[in-house]
Amino acid sequence: MSQQPTITFHDGRAIPQIGLGVWQTPDADAAEVVATALKAGYRHIDTAAGYENERGVGEGLSRSGIERNEVFVTTKLKNEDQGFDSTLRAFDRSLGELGLDAVDLYLVHWPSPWRGKYVETWKAFVRLREEGRARSIGVSNFTDEHLERIVGETGVVPVLNQIELHPRFQQREMRAADAKRDIVTESWSPLGQGGLLQDAAIGRIAEKHGRTPAQVIIRWHLDNGLVVIPKSVTPSRIESNFDVFGFQLDAEDRAAIDAMDSGGGRIGPDPLTAKF
Ligand SMILES: NC(=O)c1ccc[n+]([C@@H]2O[C@H](COP(=O)([O-])OP(=O)(O)OC[C@H]3O[C@@H](n4cnc5c(N)ncnc54)[C@H](OP(=O)(O)O)[C@@H]3O)[C@@H](O)[C@H]2O)c1
Repeated sequence: MSQQPTITFHDGRAIPQIGLGVWQTPDADAAEVVATALKAGYRHIDTAAGYENERGVGEGLSRSGIERNEVFVTTKLKNEDQGFDSTLRAFDRSLGELGLDAVDLYLVHWPSPWRGKYVETWKAFVRLREEGRARSIGVSNFTDEHLERIVGETGVVPVLNQIELHPRFQQREMRAADAKRDIVTESWSPLGQGGLLQDAAIGRIAEKHGRTPAQVIIRWHLDNGLVVIPKSVTPSRIESNFDVFGFQLDAEDRAAIDAMDSGGGRIGPDPLTAKF
């Protein structure tokens, strides 16, 4: 991996702390977007079967010429594929689309509790990790209750939980629930899907440091020990979102951003009630 901060999982593997998110990136554009990111220095790509762009992501990886083991690739299982055998089949399809022999991290995309299948799904994930085709296994959108169940029933602790997390929805309780199990927290929609970039407090901090609002928010995630996966399809933004190592937030900046947390800041679905 190139020189950039990483976080080591409890299974001993390491994840680069910044990755490129590719939700809502059309398959036809994904190869170019991934190639741009790798050129800018990213070594971590976050996709999902549900994003329908694994093929383009795989093409971008192979086109880049960068050694496979230099890039950390995450994909996720679609909710409708939950279940033991169906997970194994869906994983094979994902590898086929990506054109890879293994992924660095495979995530259960949502607990989807109404399906009642996330425990058997997790058992299939354990199998995939044993086979070495999923080098690490984790979850996304899991609450304390879902984590308790899979760990209780299998004894296998996910390495990471990818959850909605940004300055207006800081998820302090979930971060603590992850941390007490030695699970790394990863922030999805880290820029609030772009909505946070107009925030006045963020704007003041950005101006003070001569940085963009996105850079300030990404720096805040990094300083909080979170893995962060900003999405952009715009080359200049892909590049500037990765250029966050030449400045520091001070205590006053951090306090101002910490104070933005509001009870109603969630943008996406609530994992306990989402019916998909
Ligand atoms: N596990 C889950 O359930 C889940 C759910 C949602 C997201 N995710 C993951 O998290 C990733 C990131 O979340 P997200 O895509 O929802 O939103 P996000 O990264 O918070 O924000 C992306 C939006 O911000 C814009 N943007 C990015 N950088 C910018 C900059 N420097 N200046 C101005 N605008 C900028 C992008 O526009 P352009 O693209 O037009 O440049 C896009 O509209 C996803 O791509 C996906 O990998 C996971």
